[in-house]
This record gives sequence, structure tokens and C-alpha cells, in this order.
Amino acid sequence: MRHILIIGIGAGNPEHITIQAINALNRADVLFIPTKGATKTELAEVRREICARYLTRSNSRTVEFAVPVRSTEGRSYIESVDDWHASIAATYEALLKDELADGQTGAFLVWGDPMLYDSTIRIVERVKAQGRITFDFDVIPGITSLQALCASHRIPLNLVGKPVEITTGRRLAESFPHKSETAVVMLDGEQAFRKIEDPDAEIYWGAYLGTPDEIVISGRLAEVKDEVLKAREAARERMGWIMDIYLLRKGADFDE
Ligand SMILES: C[S@@+](CC[C@H](N)C(=O)[O-])C[C@H]1O[C@@H](n2cnc3c(N)ncnc32)[C@H](O)[C@@H]1O
Repeated sequence: MRHILIIGIGAGNPEHITIQAINALNRADVLFIPTKGATKTELAEVRREICARYLTRSNSRTVEFAVPVRSTEGRSYIESVDDWHASIAATYEALLKDELADGQTGAFLVWGDPMLYDSTIRIVERVKAQGRITFDFDVIPGITSLQALCASHRIPLNLVGKPVEITTGRRLAESFPHKSETAVVMLDGEQAFRKIEDPDAEIYWGAYLGTPDEIVISGRLAEVKDEVLKAREAARERMGWIMDIYLLRKGADFDE
């Protein structure tokens, strides 16, 4: 039987990685890294640096692979994600079959933590369910971009005794501020915070967290909205890509 390790590598700083993750990296005979043809070369570099810094065994191999791109043409969002997962599953299956011998251990290096807005676990489950290759798998947690955001702003995630919603830009309007006093927004290509008009809302925004290019801005949303939009656009132009996350908050600890 083959063994798979799904390892969270943190959200940009090679020092985010845990000792459990370093030990897991060193248990793997083959490390699968989604860096081939990567447009965000800085992210590929973080993965390579992690391997260079922490791998102590000399007899493991690294296999770089390209992640299939999602096609949205003529399909609903759900259909396009399902098709996309099917093609990633085919890529994973081929990697396991061609690159990993029976009895060997393979590792997938996952950005942040594998449980947060990442489909590696569900795709590995999909390959397993297809039943053509027998393997078991374990998940090793990592530091998420959400933790990196709160740490950089030096804030707790939740208000005392209050819930938190984690959502996407597409769905933010459904929740904040009327349903959730704290909303964390990831994967936001439309800067959904622009449409929030509440005068009491505050924003804690961060881009390229954990990397040398990290930018953070916080304040009353109405006052810093334009500053965030400008900083975001300038950074996107300079770097050619952007990865950002933000927390919106209304209210205070001990408010009823
Ligand atoms: C596909 S999700 C992966 C999340 C990842 N599994 C985690 O634990 O953070 C990608 C989104 O995570 C956020 N993200 C990940 N790393 C980030 C970073 N270093 N700085 C800012 N946002 C980041 C952004 O919202 C980005 O659109």
C-alpha cells in the first residue's frame, strides 16, 4: 500500500512550518510540488525554499507538476469546479501510479492549511474512491493566511464569546454586517468590501502575508477603503499578481 501525507506548509513565511510538518517532509520518499509553469513564481520559490531548508534525508525525490486550470466557459460555478477537481484527480492519480512505488510515501505540500479553502483533501478522497490505486493518507496542519493576518495586525480573531464567519468576496454581502459581527474574506477578486457602507465597520487587510512583500492596512472602513484599493492595485501591478485576505468587524468585546 502507498501512503500519502498532505502537509500544510504555512502561508508564505518558510518559518511558519511546524516541526510535525518538517518530520513529515522527511518521511516522504517523493515530494509532489505544484510549481510547474507557476505564474506566481514567488509562491513556487517558497515551496522550493522549504524543501531546501528542512529536508535532511538525501534519498527523497521532488516531482514538480502543473495544476490543471479551471475552465468556466459555458458552465455553472459548481459544474466548473467539479470538472476542475476531476482533472486534478486524474493528475494526482497519474502521479501516484507513475512516481510512487507500492510501500512508498508521497507528500503533497499545501499552501497554508489543507482544511481552509483548499481541495487537496477532497481530491485525494476522490482518487481513493475511484479505487484504482490503494493508499491511505494523513493530514498535517499548517499556519493559515487567516492566522498570519491576525498575527500581523496583532488582533484576536473573534470578539469575546462571539462567532466568526469565513467567506468569499462573492458571498460577503449575505453576511456582513447584518449576520456576522466578524467576517473574514478570502479569494476576493472583486474587492467586495467596497460595497459595505456601514459607518462603524472596521477592516484589517493584508497582502502577501508572511513574505518580504507583506502589506497591511487597518482602520475604519469608510476612512481607509480608498487607501486599501490603491495599495492593492499598485501592488498587483508591481508584482503581476496578488493574494490578499481581510477581516471586517463591527462592534466591540462585551457588546450585547
Ligand atoms: C485557495 S485559498 C488557500 C488558503 C490556504 N489554504 C490557507 O490556509 O490560508 C487562497 C486564498 O488564501 C488567502 N491567502 C493565502 N495566502 C495568503 C497570504 N500569504 N497573504 C494574503 N492572503 C493569503 C487569499 O485570500 C487567497 O485568495
